[in-house]
Amino acid sequence: MDTSISNSPVLSCRNIVKRYDDGVDAVTVLRGVSLDIAPGSQIAIVGASGSGKSSLLHILGALDTPNEGDVFFLDHSILSLNRTQQAHLRNKYLGFVYQFHHLLNEFSALENVAMPLLISGEKAAVAMEKASSALDKVGLSHRKKHAPNALSGGERQRTAIARAIVNSPKVVLADEPTGNLDAKTGEQVYELMLSLQADLNMAFAVVTHDLTLAKKMSHQYQLHDGMLQEYKY
Ligand SMILES: Nc1ncnc2c1ncn2[C@@H]1O[C@H](COP(=O)(O)OP(=O)(O)OP(=O)(O)O)[C@@H](O)[C@H]1O
Ligand SMILES: [Mg+2]
Repeated sequence: MDTSISNSPVLSCRNIVKRYDDGVDAVTVLRGVSLDIAPGSQIAIVGASGSGKSSLLHILGALDTPNEGDVFFLDHSILSLNRTQQAHLRNKYLGFVYQFHHLLNEFSALENVAMPLLISGEKAAVAMEKASSALDKVGLSHRKKHAPNALSGGERQRTAIARAIVNSPKVVLADEPTGNLDAKTGEQVYELMLSLQADLNMAFAVVTHDLTLAKKMSHQYQLHDGMLQEYKY
């Protein structure tokens, strides 16, 4: 896949419609959402609880399928890929950060960060070296051997960010990455994401309900009534 940088979006979606139907109740959460994520850009998506932010992020990251519309990584339709190809695309080009870090307590911070590389078949020594460098970048040089449950909330999210960037992805998708942190630590995590974004030239798309944090990003969008619009102050 040619992934050379151009001005065209690195990740985009067109006319996404997402419905959930549990047999009793059907709810249409996204009603025609389109978004372009430019290479190296910073995007915040805000919206009330239940407005569909996580749904949209999961669809952008090929973790869920829309009822209508399409998602593109560069010029390739993600939805036309099979599951193995989608998993490969996620592993190689996308990074994810969640509200609850989803780190494995049986492994050290270093091993957790190395995991995506090991999964993609990288040699263990190389994976550990890259993981170590990613942990340096998030300011955790002194915590590499600790298990996640021996880290503070902010340190866990830094570890999760290191794991998301270890593959040098084109896009990092973060779902309420600071939702579980106090205001000061949350702000520090945002500053970290922004400095990494600038240094490593990855696009960052971050979902939050915190407008103060969203304002730190260069673009803000709002999900409301199933539609995505540029946020107007
Ligand atoms: N698997 C599912 N089955 C049925 N309904 C679902 C499912 N996943 C999400 N929903 C519903 O879709 C709506 C949007 O959910 P989503 O998780 O995308 O919202 P959100 O904006 O991320 O909310 P929050 O800020 O609380 O995380 C909610 O009403 C939710 O209950
Ligand atoms: Mg959510």
